[in-house]
Amino acid sequence: MPRTLVEIDRDSEEPLYRQVRNAVEHGIAVGTYDPDHPLPSSRELAKELGVSRNTINLAYQELIAEGFVESHERSGLFINREMRPHSARELDAPSAERGIEWSRRIRTFADRELPHLEKQADWHRYPYPFPAGQIDVAAFPARSWSRCLREALFHPHVFASLQDSVGSDDPMLVEMIRKHLLPSRGIQASPEEILITVGSQQGIDLLARALLGPGQRVGVEDPGYLDARHIFLRADAGVTGFPVDGAGVRLPESLHGVDLVYLTPSHQHPTNATLHIGRRRQLLWLAARSGTIVVEDDYDSEFRYQGSPTPALKALDTAGDVVYLGTFSKFLSPGLRLGYLVGPPELVRELRLARRYVNRHPSGQLQRALALLISSGEYQRAMRRYRNRLMRKWSLVCAAVRTQFPWQPGPFPPGGVSLWVSGPPELDGVRLVELAAQRGVLVERGDIFFLADPPPRNHFRIGFAATPVAAIDPGLRILGEVARQLGS
Ligand SMILES: Cc1ncc(COP(=O)(O)O)c(C=O)c1O
Repeated sequence: MPRTLVEIDRDSEEPLYRQVRNAVEHGIAVGTYDPDHPLPSSRELAKELGVSRNTINLAYQELIAEGFVESHERSGLFINREMRPHSARELDAPSAERGIEWSRRIRTFADRELPHLEKQADWHRYPYPFPAGQIDVAAFPARSWSRCLREALFHPHVFASLQDSVGSDDPMLVEMIRKHLLPSRGIQASPEEILITVGSQQGIDLLARALLGPGQRVGVEDPGYLDARHIFLRADAGVTGFPVDGAGVRLPESLHGVDLVYLTPSHQHPTNATLHIGRRRQLLWLAARSGTIVVEDDYDSEFRYQGSPTPALKALDTAGDVVYLGTFSKFLSPGLRLGYLVGPPELVRELRLARRYVNRHPSGQLQRALALLISSGEYQRAMRRYRNRLMRKWSLVCAAVRTQFPWQPGPFPPGGVSLWVSGPPELDGVRLVELAAQRGVLVERGDIFFLADPPPRNHFRIGFAATPVAAIDPGLRILGEVARQLGS
């Protein structure tokens, strides 16, 4: 007789038969029972456990009805082989029946060779964290946000928050973006031209689904935003890099053969260079001549620390060729996953449909809470406070980098939430990042943003939005020491 390993607890409120049934089911799941031997008879088990045979019969009947146990005529009860754990079943299955070979069935995507932008999940545990793409949680307007989340659940907001909106967006949020956010970027748009997205990443993905396919070509900045490159390649489009200098992306003489250009004009990702006005005009002119769609990712234009912010490229676009992407990831938070897209109504209609079959719509409650935050003015106040905080950190980081490194880095563009640091050509920035991490300083390697193979290794990125002010000087002093140690 196999060991039953059934234990019952007489003080439990759970009926005894149920306890027996659950224990046998568990035994089957973990492979306790031999499928070639009968289970203990109800008489044996009742005796062993000191309960009535009825209790055991009831447990067995339920297990039979649910398919865990089978009754074999004149031989007794046996466990159903199919219910055993995978590891046990594989032993007696012929190889052809070993189940699906998932690695052969999953589609191979064209971005498989591309590195991923790895985000260190425990970045906040580093004594000197300089992660890119994270926020200062202490600056998040938590009280006003919780008030808005609560308010969104009551009349007159509750339907917008909780209903299935299928393909539509919260009209109040669309209105707030239209009236309070876009004008500061010089953009005028009607509600039909706006789509709310789950972060700007969804905007890029929807555009790739609707506009790209095999044989099409996307122009990207080099170095540039890696996640966007992944999305374009996964849509089977080809990618061509345009080099970047201190005035942003350097354009080719013609954009013929380029179906779409994706770029970050306000603060080029990852260098933070602002696209020069002359190049902006040249880009729109070239794009109009070749019928190239321009996608402007305006992910952190709010953070400009000197001079006035440049208007969006979309603000110069009279032809309607530019699709604009905005996000609430840099302010308020990347965890909320909210962004928006502005484009011609015909395109927005199609993207809305595409979004509907991916995730229907972004969370109604989050959309309404954000609309309430903007309409109360608290969004704008919190943003000003956050910008001042970031401006201070930016100055501290620039000053520390200039004094601590064995070479003269910079100049640094007066905006963004990170610093792109270029070392002398012989600097091994990847090694620098590894050695710095061993001393508690988290910065980001720069080689992965380049298209070249092998890419240059003498750049790295220092994010500062999430860094505590007190960690800036000591952290960058250590980074400077590591750079000296590497002999740069
Ligand atoms: C260039 C660029 N675009 C967009 C985003 C934001 O993406 P999302 O809005 O999906 O969080 C980031 C964030 O790191 C970024 O670097």
